[in-house]
Amino acid sequence: MILVTGATGRVGHRLMEALADAHAEATAMVRVEARAADLPGTPRYTVATFDDPPPAQTLREFDRVFLLSPAQEEQAELETVFIDAIAAAGHRPHIVKLAADGFQDPDNEVRFMRSHRQVAAHLDALDLPVTYLAPSLYMENLLAATDTIRKEGVVRAPAGRGRVGFVAARDVAAVAARVLTSPGHDGEIYVLTGPEALRYTDVAHRVSAVFAREVGYENQPPKRARDLLVAAGMAHWEADGYAELFEWVRAGGAATVTQTVREVTGQDPQPIEDWLGDARASFTGPPPDQPTPVF
Ligand SMILES: NC(=O)c1ccc[n+]([C@@H]2O[C@H](COP(=O)([O-])OP(=O)(O)OC[C@H]3O[C@@H](n4cnc5c(N)ncnc54)[C@H](OP(=O)(O)O)[C@@H]3O)[C@@H](O)[C@H]2O)c1
Repeated sequence: MILVTGATGRVGHRLMEALADAHAEATAMVRVEARAADLPGTPRYTVATFDDPPPAQTLREFDRVFLLSPAQEEQAELETVFIDAIAAAGHRPHIVKLAADGFQDPDNEVRFMRSHRQVAAHLDALDLPVTYLAPSLYMENLLAATDTIRKEGVVRAPAGRGRVGFVAARDVAAVAARVLTSPGHDGEIYVLTGPEALRYTDVAHRVSAVFAREVGYENQPPKRARDLLVAAGMAHWEADGYAELFEWVRAGGAATVTQTVREVTGQDPQPIEDWLGDARASFTGPPPDQPTPVF
């Protein structure tokens, strides 16, 4: 039996879909009971949070746990509390931890990566069997640009000429499903990317080609990008993290391309043109009224 945390999110929802397709026995951990009804298939669910975890008896039912929490200031603390609850239950399930490419580099000072490293150190200290999934930036981050694409024909980001190995959340979920349902992944760090590393200018060209309209890239001054995120309601911690992340992108840190999606799942990762086609409604429909999380 597999426990899936973050099951209602971008990766988790698609993971539930992939596990249902694989006829795997999965239980979703949801914060709000009503959200379980929207999950694919008719999975079992348990209502809990990272800081109010399921009881020990429930935790002992799972031999694999998918661990995903949002990139926020409390992330390492919340995951640590949850991991401690599993350990305190006297249980040693295989943990599949969703991290981010860059976390494995001890010199990477992007705060999102530091949080994942902190959790990894805790898992190491407890000596739990673990597999890390370390995706590049999700293609879904581009949904944050749909508004300016529709209204102004522009993608803005403080990315300079840095390349990014954008990966679809669907492919991250496909790898997670395979790791959760097959042996031989203990101790691995899987860096997950799409098929190519793209500059934001390339992204603008692909958007132009798929939607047959002229879209350009505007390299945003980093401070302006950060201030706009705060003005849109993002927490300062997260907006500062976004600034650090794009500094890393500008320096070429996110340009990695791996074959791991294909090696683990047997399927090629989704090219950006296909992803854009699938997301057509978001790029051509009415503007979203909520800011999309950027990381
Ligand atoms: N964005 C990127 O480009 C990128 C790239 C690489 C790695 N990552 C990593 O991906 C992760 C985020 O993945 P995602 O985008 O799929 O997440 P997401 O869509 O933001 O979903 C977050 C999930 O966590 C749940 N959650 C939030 N707070 C919780 C709590 N206190 N207790 C239990 N569950 C809680 C949410 O449940 P509710 O539905 O109840 O809110 C939701 O299911 C982060 O760790 C980030 O570092 C992101």
